Amino acid sequence: MKMRDDNPLRVVQITDTHIKSQPGSRLWGVDVDANLTAVLQRLKTRHWPVQFILATGDLVHDEGAQAYERLYAFLEPLGVPVYCLPGNHDAPEELEQTLTNPVRRQRHINAGHWQFILLDSTVHGSDAGHLLDSELMFLESALRVHPRRHAIICLHHQPLPIGCSWLDTMVVDNGEKLLAIAGRHPQVRAIVYGHIHQEFAARHGAVELLGAPSTCVQFKPDAPTAEADPIPPGYRWFELYPDGRLLTGIERTKGII
Ligand SMILES: [Fe+2]
Repeated sequence: MKMRDDNPLRVVQITDTHIKSQPGSRLWGVDVDANLTAVLQRLKTRHWPVQFILATGDLVHDEGAQAYERLYAFLEPLGVPVYCLPGNHDAPEELEQTLTNPVRRQRHINAGHWQFILLDSTVHGSDAGHLLDSELMFLESALRVHPRRHAIICLHHQPLPIGCSWLDTMVVDNGEKLLAIAGRHPQVRAIVYGHIHQEFAARHGAVELLGAPSTCVQFKPDAPTAEADPIPPGYRWFELYPDGRLLTGIERTKGII
Protein backbone atom coordinates (compact mmCIF):
# COMPACT_ATOMS: atom_id res chain seq x y z
CA MET A 1 0.00 0.00 0.00
CA LYS A 2 1.36 3.41 -0.94
CA MET A 3 1.93 5.68 2.07
CA ARG A 4 0.06 8.97 2.03
CA ASP A 5 2.54 11.75 1.48
CA ASP A 6 1.66 13.50 4.74
CA ASN A 7 2.47 10.44 6.83
CA PRO A 8 5.46 11.04 9.09
CA LEU A 9 8.70 9.16 8.95
CA ARG A 10 9.04 7.34 12.28
CA VAL A 11 12.56 7.02 13.61
CA VAL A 12 14.00 6.26 17.05
CA GLN A 13 17.33 7.12 18.66
CA ILE A 14 18.94 4.74 21.12
CA THR A 15 22.26 5.70 22.62
CA ASP A 16 25.04 4.74 25.00
CA THR A 17 24.17 1.06 25.16
CA HIS A 18 27.65 0.38 26.68
CA ILE A 19 27.45 -3.36 25.99
CA LYS A 20 30.24 -5.43 27.55
CA SER A 21 31.70 -8.75 26.48
CA GLN A 22 30.17 -10.74 29.33
CA PRO A 23 26.39 -11.20 29.77
CA GLY A 24 24.94 -9.71 32.95
CA SER A 25 27.63 -7.02 33.26
CA ARG A 26 26.88 -3.89 35.24
CA LEU A 27 27.82 -0.25 34.75
CA TRP A 28 27.41 2.08 37.76
CA GLY A 29 25.44 -0.78 39.36
CA VAL A 30 22.98 -0.93 36.46
CA ASP A 31 22.43 -4.19 34.53
CA VAL A 32 23.47 -3.23 31.01
CA ASP A 33 21.81 -6.12 29.12
CA ALA A 34 18.60 -6.20 31.15
CA ASN A 35 18.00 -2.47 30.76
CA LEU A 36 18.64 -2.55 27.01
CA THR A 37 16.17 -5.44 26.75
CA ALA A 38 13.59 -3.43 28.71
CA VAL A 39 14.14 -0.36 26.52
CA LEU A 40 13.68 -2.40 23.34
CA GLN A 41 10.52 -3.99 24.77
CA ARG A 42 9.16 -0.54 25.57
CA LEU A 43 9.97 0.56 22.03
CA LYS A 44 8.14 -2.44 20.56
CA THR A 45 5.01 -1.67 22.59
CA ARG A 46 4.98 2.15 22.39
CA HIS A 47 6.57 3.31 19.12
CA TRP A 48 6.49 0.44 16.69
CA PRO A 49 6.95 0.12 13.78
CA VAL A 50 9.79 2.50 12.97
CA GLN A 51 11.57 2.87 9.66
CA PHE A 52 14.99 2.65 11.27
CA ILE A 53 16.91 3.22 14.49
CA LEU A 54 19.80 5.63 15.04
CA ALA A 55 22.42 4.41 17.54
CA THR A 56 24.51 7.42 18.53
CA GLY A 57 27.63 5.94 20.04
CA ASP A 58 29.13 4.25 23.08
CA LEU A 59 27.66 1.11 21.58
CA VAL A 60 30.10 -0.94 23.67
CA HIS A 61 32.05 -0.14 26.83
CA ASP A 62 35.75 -0.13 25.90
CA GLU A 63 35.56 -3.69 24.63
CA GLY A 64 36.19 -5.41 21.36
CA ALA A 65 34.56 -7.55 18.72
CA GLN A 66 32.76 -9.83 21.17
CA ALA A 67 30.83 -6.90 22.64
CA TYR A 68 29.84 -5.66 19.16
CA GLU A 69 28.65 -9.17 18.31
CA ARG A 70 26.56 -9.19 21.49
CA LEU A 71 25.07 -5.81 20.58
CA TYR A 72 24.23 -7.16 17.12
CA ALA A 73 22.41 -10.09 18.73
CA PHE A 74 20.20 -7.64 20.69
CA LEU A 75 19.36 -5.42 17.72
CA GLU A 76 19.25 -7.67 14.64
CA PRO A 77 16.00 -9.41 15.68
CA LEU A 78 14.16 -6.07 15.55
CA GLY A 79 14.11 -6.50 11.77
CA VAL A 80 14.80 -2.84 10.91
CA PRO A 81 18.09 -1.14 10.03
CA VAL A 82 20.10 0.21 12.96
CA TYR A 83 22.44 2.94 11.73
CA CYS A 84 25.41 3.43 14.04
CA LEU A 85 28.10 6.00 14.72
CA PRO A 86 30.97 5.76 17.24
CA GLY A 87 31.32 7.30 20.71
CA ASN A 88 34.32 7.76 22.98
CA HIS A 89 33.98 4.22 24.39
CA ASP A 90 33.90 2.66 20.91
CA ALA A 91 36.69 1.49 18.65
CA PRO A 92 35.56 3.07 15.35
CA GLU A 93 37.42 0.64 13.07
CA GLU A 94 36.34 -2.43 14.99
CA LEU A 95 32.76 -1.14 15.03
CA GLU A 96 32.84 -0.73 11.26
CA GLN A 97 34.44 -4.12 10.65
CA THR A 98 32.36 -6.15 13.13
CA LEU A 99 28.87 -4.82 12.55
CA THR A 100 27.08 -5.83 9.36
CA ASN A 101 23.60 -5.43 7.94
CA PRO A 102 21.12 -4.60 9.33
CA VAL A 103 23.13 -3.14 12.26
CA ARG A 104 25.96 -1.15 10.75
CA ARG A 105 28.02 2.02 10.59
CA GLN A 106 26.32 4.47 8.25
CA ARG A 107 27.33 8.01 7.31
CA HIS A 108 24.33 9.22 5.34
CA ILE A 109 20.70 8.23 4.99
CA ASN A 110 18.02 9.56 2.65
CA ALA A 111 14.51 8.71 3.81
CA GLY A 112 11.29 10.30 2.57
CA HIS A 113 11.74 14.07 2.52
CA TRP A 114 14.56 13.88 5.06
CA GLN A 115 18.27 13.18 5.22
CA PHE A 116 20.44 12.14 8.15
CA ILE A 117 24.16 12.84 8.36
CA LEU A 118 26.04 10.72 10.93
CA LEU A 119 29.34 12.26 11.99
CA ASP A 120 32.29 10.84 13.92
CA SER A 121 33.19 13.17 16.82
CA THR A 122 35.60 10.80 18.56
CA VAL A 123 39.24 11.52 19.30
CA HIS A 124 41.57 8.55 19.52
CA GLY A 125 42.74 8.04 23.13
CA SER A 126 40.45 10.74 24.55
CA ASP A 127 36.90 11.03 25.86
CA ALA A 128 36.54 14.54 24.43
CA GLY A 129 34.80 15.46 21.18
CA HIS A 130 36.22 17.01 18.02
CA LEU A 131 35.11 17.16 14.40
CA LEU A 132 37.88 16.76 11.87
CA ASP A 133 37.78 18.99 8.80
CA SER A 134 36.95 15.87 6.77
CA GLU A 135 33.77 15.35 8.82
CA LEU A 136 32.76 19.01 8.50
CA MET A 137 33.38 18.90 4.74
CA PHE A 138 31.31 15.73 4.45
CA LEU A 139 28.47 17.48 6.27
CA GLU A 140 28.65 20.60 4.14
CA SER A 141 28.73 18.52 0.97
CA ALA A 142 25.66 16.46 1.95
CA LEU A 143 23.71 19.62 2.75
CA ARG A 144 24.70 21.18 -0.59
CA VAL A 145 23.82 18.06 -2.60
CA HIS A 146 20.38 17.74 -0.97
CA PRO A 147 19.24 21.30 -0.31
CA ARG A 148 15.54 20.40 -0.27
CA ARG A 149 15.77 17.52 2.16
CA HIS A 150 15.11 18.46 5.79
CA ALA A 151 18.24 17.44 7.63
CA ILE A 152 19.12 15.89 10.98
CA ILE A 153 22.78 15.83 12.00
CA CYS A 154 23.78 13.03 14.37
CA LEU A 155 26.95 12.68 16.41
CA HIS A 156 28.02 11.35 19.79
CA HIS A 157 29.23 14.38 21.77
CA GLN A 158 27.22 17.47 22.66
CA PRO A 159 28.16 20.40 20.38
CA LEU A 160 27.54 23.01 23.12
CA PRO A 161 27.77 22.80 26.92
CA ILE A 162 24.63 21.46 28.60
CA GLY A 163 25.30 22.89 32.07
CA CYS A 164 26.72 19.67 33.54
CA SER A 165 30.29 20.75 34.18
CA TRP A 166 32.02 17.36 34.30
CA LEU A 167 30.34 16.30 31.04
CA ASP A 168 31.02 19.68 29.48
CA THR A 169 34.76 19.05 29.73
CA MET A 170 34.07 16.61 26.86
CA VAL A 171 31.99 18.92 24.64
CA VAL A 172 32.91 19.04 20.93
CA ASP A 173 35.83 21.47 21.11
CA ASN A 174 35.02 22.99 17.71
CA GLY A 175 31.25 22.79 18.01
CA GLU A 176 30.98 26.38 16.77
CA LYS A 177 32.06 25.18 13.30
CA LEU A 178 29.29 22.58 13.29
CA LEU A 179 26.72 25.18 14.36
CA ALA A 180 27.99 27.64 11.74
CA ILE A 181 27.47 25.08 8.96
CA ALA A 182 24.02 24.21 10.32
CA GLY A 183 23.18 27.90 10.41
CA ARG A 184 24.12 28.36 6.74
CA HIS A 185 21.74 25.61 5.61
CA PRO A 186 18.15 26.36 6.56
CA GLN A 187 17.03 22.78 5.92
CA VAL A 188 18.87 21.65 9.08
CA ARG A 189 16.18 20.96 11.66
CA ALA A 190 18.09 19.28 14.48
CA ILE A 191 21.41 18.13 15.88
CA VAL A 192 20.94 14.86 17.75
CA TYR A 193 23.48 13.33 20.11
CA GLY A 194 24.19 10.92 22.95
CA HIS A 195 27.07 10.94 25.45
CA ILE A 196 25.29 12.89 28.21
CA HIS A 197 23.09 10.00 29.48
CA GLN A 198 20.18 12.36 30.14
CA GLU A 199 17.32 14.08 28.35
CA PHE A 200 18.23 17.46 26.91
CA ALA A 201 16.54 19.89 24.53
CA ALA A 202 17.52 23.42 23.55
CA ARG A 203 17.59 25.63 20.49
CA HIS A 204 20.40 27.32 18.60
CA GLY A 205 18.72 29.67 16.15
CA ALA A 206 16.33 27.50 14.16
CA VAL A 207 18.17 24.28 15.01
CA GLU A 208 17.00 21.99 17.79
CA LEU A 209 19.74 20.50 19.99
CA LEU A 210 18.55 17.16 21.31
CA GLY A 211 20.21 14.77 23.77
CA ALA A 212 18.78 11.46 24.91
CA PRO A 213 18.94 9.10 27.89
CA SER A 214 21.25 6.11 27.76
CA THR A 215 19.74 2.64 27.56
CA CYS A 216 21.58 1.86 30.83
CA VAL A 217 22.84 4.30 33.50
CA GLN A 218 21.51 7.90 33.69
CA PHE A 219 23.54 10.92 34.83
CA LYS A 220 22.09 13.69 36.99
CA PRO A 221 21.48 16.98 35.16
CA ASP A 222 23.31 20.05 36.49
CA ALA A 223 25.63 17.93 38.63
CA PRO A 224 29.20 19.25 38.93
CA THR A 225 30.64 15.74 39.22
CA ALA A 226 29.58 12.40 37.80
CA GLU A 227 26.54 11.16 39.68
CA ALA A 228 24.10 8.42 38.67
CA ASP A 229 20.46 9.47 38.42
CA PRO A 230 18.10 6.75 39.69
CA ILE A 231 15.57 7.17 36.89
CA PRO A 232 14.75 4.56 34.27
CA PRO A 233 16.55 4.33 30.92
CA GLY A 234 14.88 5.15 27.64
CA TYR A 235 15.06 6.35 24.06
CA ARG A 236 14.08 9.32 21.89
CA TRP A 237 11.33 8.99 19.27
CA PHE A 238 10.81 11.17 16.21
CA GLU A 239 7.89 11.84 13.86
CA LEU A 240 9.24 13.68 10.84
CA TYR A 241 6.77 15.22 8.42
CA PRO A 242 7.26 15.98 4.71
CA ASP A 243 6.86 19.72 5.38
CA GLY A 244 9.77 19.73 7.88
CA ARG A 245 7.75 19.53 11.09
CA LEU A 246 9.63 17.55 13.72
CA LEU A 247 7.87 15.98 16.69
CA THR A 248 10.02 14.29 19.29
CA GLY A 249 9.95 13.03 22.85
CA ILE A 250 11.57 10.74 25.38
CA GLU A 251 10.09 7.40 26.39
CA ARG A 252 11.41 5.55 29.43
CA THR A 253 10.93 2.08 30.87
CA LYS A 254 8.82 1.67 34.01
CA GLY A 255 11.80 0.95 36.25
CA ILE A 256 15.52 0.43 36.42
CA ILE A 257 17.07 -3.02 36.72
FE1 LIG B 1 28.16 6.89 27.29
